[in-house]
Amino acid sequence: MNSSLKDGLLKGKVAFVAGASSGINLGIAQRLAEQGAKVAIISRSAEKIAAAAKTITDKGYPCVGIAADVRDYAAVDAALAEAVKQFGKIDIVLSGAAGNFVAPALGMSANGFKTVVDIDLIGTFNVLRACFQYLNRPGASLISITAGQGERPSMFQAHVCAAKAGINMLTKCLAMEWGPAGVRVNAISPGPIADTEGMARLAPNPGDEQRIKSRVPLRDYGEKLDIAEAVVYLSTESARYVTGVIMQVDGGSGLGDAGANAIPEGF
Ligand code: NAP
Ligand code: COA
Repeated sequence: MNSSLKDGLLKGKVAFVAGASSGINLGIAQRLAEQGAKVAIISRSAEKIAAAAKTITDKGYPCVGIAADVRDYAAVDAALAEAVKQFGKIDIVLSGAAGNFVAPALGMSANGFKTVVDIDLIGTFNVLRACFQYLNRPGASLISITAGQGERPSMFQAHVCAAKAGINMLTKCLAMEWGPAGVRVNAISPGPIADTEGMARLAPNPGDEQRIKSRVPLRDYGEKLDIAEAVVYLSTESARYVTGVIMQVDGGSGLGDAGANAIPEGF
């Protein structure tokens, strides 16, 4: 961890993190725990989520892992009820479960397209809709993980583009509807993040990493901690007037291709 970062900002809070057996979302759960939150995490696999929870409890932080598929509303509801049973309330909800594979639309069955929309978009609706009754409100913070594909079309990503665009609009609609109840609803759009399943699928070939980095204005992949820190900010009082935002934490990737033109001499 970067030693300049503060800890303890979320003391007394309880967080529920969906899709947290690995990757960015596990990094988020870990950071929320370091900041003092008690954390309930879910994913499809009972073994994977138990192992993930253990990585957090082994460091001395309260965490419970619960198996639940975000496509199953009743299972999500039961997991939220279990989290409240264990920790008493829910202040922060992170919806980040996702599926991705690279395929042209014509190489994708109807079920292939539906599977990704079901996990990413319907799953996010399920998590956010089901959590409302359990929220400690006013003051609750709901955050979804979207992606650049939600704003920019991408080859061989029709399913993900459609699903993440849906998450972006859902975020804004729920921010409007739930603002009066004191519930803030935001999303974070990560750029390419190092050492993740997402990048392993999107950039599997030698040379992919350098090519992608050369097109990012900040010329690097992000770290899981970069996304986790944005989640921490959105979960604190510092963000009390922030809702309906799609926050880019992407090294400037969303601005456009920063490596498209020849570099003038002396630049
Ligand atoms: P990851 O490690 O594969 O994380 C996905 C998580 O979702 C896993 O914990 C998986 O656990 C869980 N999951 C999948 N289907 C589920 C379901 N139906 N119900 C419940 N949990 C489910 O991938 P990642 O690369 O870290 O991506 C995490 C998030 O960041 C995703 O929302 C992704 O779209 C977004 N993102 C990633 C990048 C990147 O550079 N990696 C960039 C932009 C956005 P189980 O297998 O145990 O269910
Ligand atoms: N190309 C085309 N279609 C594919 C595919 C690929 N590479 N991979 C899966 N599919 C299709 C399957 O063929 C199936 O369609 P069909 O029934 O018409 O044959 C459909 O997608 C569902 O596949 P299945 O394996 O049954 O789904 P699942 O629910 O077990 O798994 C996935 C969901 C496919 C998204 C799987 O990759 C996964 O579990 N991903 C989670 C991790 C992840 O993607 N991390 C990165 C997040 S950014």
